[in-house]
Amino acid sequence: MDCAQLPTPGPLVGAQPTQVPRLSRAHKTELPDGPGMPSALQAIGWSRRPLPFLERCQRRYGDIFTLRIRHIGNWVVLADPEHIKQVFTAEPEALGVGVANTLLGPLLGDRSVMLLEEPEHMSRRRLMLPQFHGERMESYTRMIDEVARDAIRAWPLDEPFELWPRMQQITLEVIMRVVFGESAQPDGLREQLDRLTEWLNSPRRLALLPLLGPRWIVRDPSYRTVMEPVERTVLAEIRRRRQSGSTEGEDIASMLACATYGDGSPMTEKDLRDELITLLSDGPTATLLAWVFERLLRYPEKLTRLRDEIASGDQEGYLDAVVKETMRLCPSVPIVVRRLVKPLELGGYTLPAGTRVAPCVHLVHRNPRVYPDPLVFRPERFLENPAGTYTWIPFGGGVRRCIAASYAQLEMRRVIHTVLSEIDLTSVNVRSERPTRSAIAFSPDQRGMVIASRRRVAAAQRS
Ligand code: HEM
Repeated sequence: MDCAQLPTPGPLVGAQPTQVPRLSRAHKTELPDGPGMPSALQAIGWSRRPLPFLERCQRRYGDIFTLRIRHIGNWVVLADPEHIKQVFTAEPEALGVGVANTLLGPLLGDRSVMLLEEPEHMSRRRLMLPQFHGERMESYTRMIDEVARDAIRAWPLDEPFELWPRMQQITLEVIMRVVFGESAQPDGLREQLDRLTEWLNSPRRLALLPLLGPRWIVRDPSYRTVMEPVERTVLAEIRRRRQSGSTEGEDIASMLACATYGDGSPMTEKDLRDELITLLSDGPTATLLAWVFERLLRYPEKLTRLRDEIASGDQEGYLDAVVKETMRLCPSVPIVVRRLVKPLELGGYTLPAGTRVAPCVHLVHRNPRVYPDPLVFRPERFLENPAGTYTWIPFGGGVRRCIAASYAQLEMRRVIHTVLSEIDLTSVNVRSERPTRSAIAFSPDQRGMVIASRRRVAAAQRS
């Protein structure tokens, strides 16, 4: 594999410190209206029950409103697809980084592609994109099936268990193989990542986050004890590959190990650390897989249709619609954020440079003008109409749209296919599960409680 070249890191255009406007009386006319309560109370609303909080604000203030959230700042939240289109199609240099999940900054590090400013962001993105597209994707299909099948065979039968952590095991195993190649995953990394995920998802810590802010998390000594082993292991693996010259593999670690900047120097360890942690902390895919089954088990006729279509050999149609409908109703990320580098005219307002605008995935996905009966789980709607670029946005949009959108959907389709081919699932809870905040995404509050049993059809065929 030829080594990729990146521009030498230097001062960044988009990274100039800009004054974030504060909502004072004098400035109120510049930003759309929004709740007037103190930012500490808005932080509690946002952290405890973010989705009802967004819905209440939309009912009161309409499709564009401003939130002021302690430890985060001001967000102009957008629920009108036209406004969202304007943001996603703005020139890359007009927009800078703004993350919705305050944990991401300290967790991923400022040299992650997700947090780089232009023009560096674009060249890093171009380096990473081929790993999640085209031929590479085909080579992942067999591997995902194999990982899922092995995992499912170890699931308990005829007793309740939580699906979400089981899905985390599958997505972690898959991404480890994508990043390090099928035969060279570093020893101990799986367990280290498990410990890190468990630490981040601790309900007590997530509850304290809005009160104390994300910087507090990284100052906590126990955070270092779970993060440092992960950092040490991934960097040791890159050093090993560089020293032994074994960077010819097709995997991401090999590609990063030999990538150089414009002046010929290799990627720094800080850049490597941040990029690898970004890829390895894939939370949304496992969460969504838990949601798929949570929804399907409450709509048995949809589950039956899906099983029938899979049995008839249809790999894409209804299965893809089920994935899309789950992502519409239970998006793992309810908003995406951009920081304006230049002023922007939007919805009758002139938003000054420095404002953070937040296309709202959750609200646009529930717009009854786009999705009739928006609260009903009806995958058929995606067979009738294709997903709209600015109305179906679980992966965000524009030049910062998730680089792994196709990969994540492929992975979900293959895991669902394998689960339904191997076992029967029934739900344990009578009530639907509610979205609750986890470290990276919004997960089902009962963690997807199910009971698995041997497939009746498969068992009948075997006997
Ligand atoms: C179903 C699963 C996933 C969902 C719902 C999801 C969602 C998102 C969202 C909402 C963004 C921000 C987009 C924006 O700001 O417009 C994003 C960015 C990103 N995601 Fe994903 N993601 C998923 C899986 C993954 C996986 C598996 C990986 C890699 C292994 C990944 C890597 C990234 C990266 C690197 C970015 C930053 C892209 C950039 O800034 O150019 N995502 N994702």
